[in-house]
Amino acid sequence: MSYLDAPPEPIGTFLDWYDEAVRRGAPFADAMTLATADGNGRPSARTVLFKGVVDGCVSFVSNFDSRKGRELAHNPAAALVFFWPALGRQVRFEGIVTRQLGAWASPQSEAIVSRAELEAAVEAARRRFAGRDVERPPNWGMYLLAPEYVELWISGDHRLHDRFAYRRDGDAWRGERLAP
Ligand SMILES: Cc1cc2nc3c(=O)[nH]c(=O)nc-3n(C[C@H](O)[C@H](O)[C@H](O)COP(=O)(O)O)c2cc1C
Repeated sequence: MSYLDAPPEPIGTFLDWYDEAVRRGAPFADAMTLATADGNGRPSARTVLFKGVVDGCVSFVSNFDSRKGRELAHNPAAALVFFWPALGRQVRFEGIVTRQLGAWASPQSEAIVSRAELEAAVEAARRRFAGRDVERPPNWGMYLLAPEYVELWISGDHRLHDRFAYRRDGDAWRGERLAP
């Protein structure tokens, strides 16, 4: 499918594409690459799972003390990328990330000695919460990326891909077609 004109705004189109990816059974339809950068501008990237659009922001959950958490605390500018090969579509988001809320067992991204150490921590958490509800760990919660830039990419024949770039303009989006 190709588009003659840019869809009027990107978030609804992204959600339509996401629903389509899920409906068509695209593997890991909810997996997205999150890129952050440290204080020296050195980037790092990893996969996280999409948890929905909340007030126009793209959400994911993670450990606040992880490498990504530390980088975001220092530099909240980040990028997210979805790629659904089965649909031939990519969506890019760039913006500022905020924490929404404040794992017991996993000091994510800290060096650990062994799998046994991890299993011992899980066992300790199991004993701690025996017979009661597990509370959300204080260092694990939701992040929200408020998009300032969104790009929709649609694979086309003969490398004639469609690319639509959107920039935030107050409450509206300004879109333009980019050369592939
Ligand atoms: C398919 C997939 C989904 C993942 N989902 C998440 C997630 O939602 N949140 C998260 O913190 N890590 C998730 N991870 C693990 C991260 O990719 C990463 O290994 C971890 O968060 C530590 O990253 P960091 O050291 O850069 O902070 C996922 C990994 C894969 C392969």
